[in-house]
Amino acid sequence: NTIITSIDKDNIDNEKIDIHANILRNGGTVIFPTETVYGLGANALDEEATKKIFKAKGRPSDNPLIVHIADKNDVYKLAKNVNESAKIIMDKFWPGPITIILQKSDILPATTTAGLDTVAIRMPSHPIALRLIERANVPVAAPSANISGRPSPTQESHVLEEMNKKVEGIILGGDCSVGIESTVIDITNETPVILRPGKITYEDLLEAFLQVDIDPAILEKNENIVPRSPGMKYTHYSPKADVYIVKGEENKVIEKINKLILENKDKKIGVMCLEKNAHKYNAQVISLGKDINDVARNLFKTLREMDKRKIDIVYSESFDTKGLGQAVMNRLNKAAGYKIIHV
Ligand code: TXA
Ligand code: MG
Repeated sequence: NTIITSIDKDNIDNEKIDIHANILRNGGTVIFPTETVYGLGANALDEEATKKIFKAKGRPSDNPLIVHIADKNDVYKLAKNVNESAKIIMDKFWPGPITIILQKSDILPATTTAGLDTVAIRMPSHPIALRLIERANVPVAAPSANISGRPSPTQESHVLEEMNKKVEGIILGGDCSVGIESTVIDITNETPVILRPGKITYEDLLEAFLQVDIDPAILEKNENIVPRSPGMKYTHYSPKADVYIVKGEENKVIEKINKLILENKDKKIGVMCLEKNAHKYNAQVISLGKDINDVARNLFKTLREMDKRKIDIVYSESFDTKGLGQAVMNRLNKAAGYKIIHV
């Protein structure tokens, strides 16, 4: 049976943490909050434990896991060739929502890295995640705590609805403040390459590096481009509803969505938009908030809410791809299966 514990992130009870730290140390699985999304963790050094992660999520075994640490020095145990780029990211952005790819060391089982010779490592900033990893005293492999293909969980209810009884422990620690997964950056070569956009943006990284490349698979759907991050090739974040992004000048977008609503009177329509436009649509509208930070925080929970309301078609406004908008549009494009209506 799953042990479920509520923990206050501002006043962490070590006795409660230790119940779950012990589960991890004994080869079990624990769901815990991070600042990005909830993670489903197991001891990254224990092959059998990491297999439980793939089973619980229904995750393809060729999709590697992110190893979470609470002490920067652990990078030197998990990776070889900890280079200058790694040090820059560790200094400037850790603890925080960015994951680095380095050559793996020999202590990691092949399950954790899905057989690759590289490893993904992140030091999260969420106090519960940090305390749990610290007290488990093992590196914690943790993908997002959703069934594969579903939106990542950002709230307690998402975890309880989807993953209860599938893991040994669940820590409930409130909402995730960022709301989309960490930036993944490959620093095994001279020039860093963003494999998955996130809260630490391209612009943020350009303040630390002279040059940063972006994996072209992030920007568009293209059958000829194989993403370098294995996870990016799978369908993701897909709600049951058919999602369309409507893109163009704002007034035209609003006009077009209202026209589509009229044309699809026999369907249940949902609209995702900025708060300032929420009253302008004649359908079930869910506001994503005031700015791009709100949109990131609310995106996955809104996709889940559309399913709960049994919405058939979702029309979403489009967002500028500068800054955090790049990560938001990456996730939204995937949720929409790249169906974009240009106006
Ligand atoms: O914010 C996050 O990163 C969350 C929280 C729980 O920390 N975790 C997360 O894990 O999003 P997951 O498994 O859902 O996404 C990990 C991504 C996948 O796209 C995976 O393919 C990529 O990181 N990845 C992992 N190891 C890699 C490697 N060695 N090379 C390239 N990509 C890798
Ligand atoms: Mg995931």
